[in-house]
Amino acid sequence: LPEIIQIDTQQKSYQIFLGVDLKNKLITLLEKTPGRRVFIVYDTHLESTCKTLSELPQVIGSFEVGSGENSKNIDTFYHLHTQLMKVQFKRTDYLVALGGGVVGDLTGFVAATYQRGCGFIQVPTTVLAQVDSSVGGKTAINHDLGKNMIGAFYQPDAVIADFQLLKSLPARQMINGFSEIIKAAILGDIKLFEALERVDDLSSCDMLPIISRSVKVKKAFVEADENDLGIRNQLNLGHTFGHAIETIHRYEDILHGEAVAIGMVIASNFAYDNKMLCAKDKARIHQLIQQIGLPTELPIRCNPKNMIEAMTLDKKNLNNGVTFVVPRKIGQCEIIKDFSADTLYQWLKTRY
Ligand SMILES: NC(=O)c1ccc[n+]([C@@H]2O[C@H](COP(=O)([O-])OP(=O)(O)OC[C@H]3O[C@@H](n4cnc5c(N)ncnc54)[C@H](O)[C@@H]3O)[C@@H](O)[C@H]2O)c1
Repeated sequence: LPEIIQIDTQQKSYQIFLGVDLKNKLITLLEKTPGRRVFIVYDTHLESTCKTLSELPQVIGSFEVGSGENSKNIDTFYHLHTQLMKVQFKRTDYLVALGGGVVGDLTGFVAATYQRGCGFIQVPTTVLAQVDSSVGGKTAINHDLGKNMIGAFYQPDAVIADFQLLKSLPARQMINGFSEIIKAAILGDIKLFEALERVDDLSSCDMLPIISRSVKVKKAFVEADENDLGIRNQLNLGHTFGHAIETIHRYEDILHGEAVAIGMVIASNFAYDNKMLCAKDKARIHQLIQQIGLPTELPIRCNPKNMIEAMTLDKKNLNNGVTFVVPRKIGQCEIIKDFSADTLYQWLKTRY
């Protein structure tokens, strides 16, 4: 049975529909708001779904976004605005983001800025987007000098997660999304962690309870700290080290979830070495990451020196120290703020 999760933020309250049929759900939503039209922004891999949705009378146009991180840029942002003006899109109409995190982040930022904010519906089509990027209102495009540097907090009006759309995802992308699910489990849901330990085939497992539980962990952090000024930082578990790995790889060859998985291994090693995490939980975290098919080893191009350099350049670590999240036990994490970059470097050298 489908499930609805309500997100309550100061900006907006909205519902996330999990395990529903996309077209039917969109029809129902649009029936509730007569007169509001729809413009679909779609990932190139979702062309046939976009065609099917375009049969709806409310759809007035669509915009194709090329696959990959390079599309999340100022040019695509500008062209999309141009198209919206050409079809006389109104701020009361809905922009629908049909794709993974790239399309979601880009479309969300256009939605936040088109006439100072228009209607916005997220239709996430990757595991990563269904559990993470479509929830919480972070939208952004990249600048040549840094990823996600230009953006806004802009909550959607609804999120429709249709699991059928995941069927065409390549296996590597499927596994990639599970990294954020493992993260959610370590952050706040030991039962989810245990359920993941029992998964032996990702392609046949029941996605509803897994995605639902992960979204609920994110919901708790987003509702407690919508603008990411405090406790929501915990969602960065694995990300400080992960971003450094992605930066060193120039966002090529390694996927975000893979980098985060390695980052979670580094964070748990740090926590264990500093007597903040017991040996058993550290071993379970490593074992689960491996079992899901995610990498655990630092890639060959990375070393303590370039990792520290990348981390101190990160926009989240501008105070010279490094802020990162460590697990204290499965289901509970802690933020380590402005940790000395030199001490972290010395520790990294003992391990890597
Ligand atoms: N806003 C947030 O809170 C947040 C959180 C995490 C990540 N992100 C952002 O999300 C992006 C990564 O998202 P992603 O992993 O979904 O990547 P993505 O959007 O690039 O999608 C991954 C790949 O899968 C393809 N694809 C998408 N849906 C498909 C489907 N149903 N069938 C077949 N192929 C499909 C895409 O074309 C692409 O090649 C990054 O830009 C990251 O910064 C944002």
